[in-house]
Amino acid sequence: MKAVILAGGEGTRLRPLTTVVNKHLLPVYNKPVIVYAIDKMVHFGIREVMIVSTPTAVPLFKALFKSEKRCRISFGVQPQPKGIAHGLLVAKKFIGKDNFLLWLGDGIVEDDISRHIHSFETGAKVFIKRVVDPERFGVATIDRKHHVLEIEEKPVQPKSHYAVTGIYLYDNTVFQKMKRQPMSKRGEYEITYVNNKYIEEGTLKAVFLKKKWFDIGTFESLYHATRYIRAKEQRGLQVQ
Ligand code: G1P
Repeated sequence: MKAVILAGGEGTRLRPLTTVVNKHLLPVYNKPVIVYAIDKMVHFGIREVMIVSTPTAVPLFKALFKSEKRCRISFGVQPQPKGIAHGLLVAKKFIGKDNFLLWLGDGIVEDDISRHIHSFETGAKVFIKRVVDPERFGVATIDRKHHVLEIEEKPVQPKSHYAVTGIYLYDNTVFQKMKRQPMSKRGEYEITYVNNKYIEEGTLKAVFLKKKWFDIGTFESLYHATRYIRAKEQRGLQVQ
């Protein structure tokens, strides 16, 4: 299985930290955020990864991973920050005819999802997590068999507490589903639109993450992730 890590975006909520530094290069205790993502790919046994980012950040990622031997990393340039689905299109050629893992590079995840990755065949899967502030995220409504019934992007009145974490497994029909995709009100090509196409087909399933998950999109979440990882490192437990 191949993986696409999206590491573009402007990180507006983290300014001035992100005024000149890409969000995914910020430190979380002892590593830049993006290194956690690559470590995770290696742990899952993924050998081919594409990092998609901005024209300014791609050369920096190339320098950072210059000596990476554990997996083959290629790079895709997303000329403008037009959303997750738009970033994914950059990786279309890299993906070819395969299924793939899509990973938002600003997430730090403790669960080992290898089993799901290696058994995945068709449709799509989203990894979700119960949170106290669902309005910050894509929010999933699911049935008892873990079929996703609806995903709403940043709803004012969330219908559940299940946040879409930014980890997705897709089959190759994803690009067909992106044809004629409209831009959202916030000026982006939303991944939620694509996920809702899978919902229309009845092929989107949810997997619950059980351990810790941090997105580092805000000062608070960046701080909490850093504290958590420091505490684990001090107990001699490495977080990948
Ligand atoms: C994105 C997705 C959202 C998801 C979130 C996870 O939002 O659009 O569905 O819940 O990542 O971090 P963004 O962080 O781009 O606002």
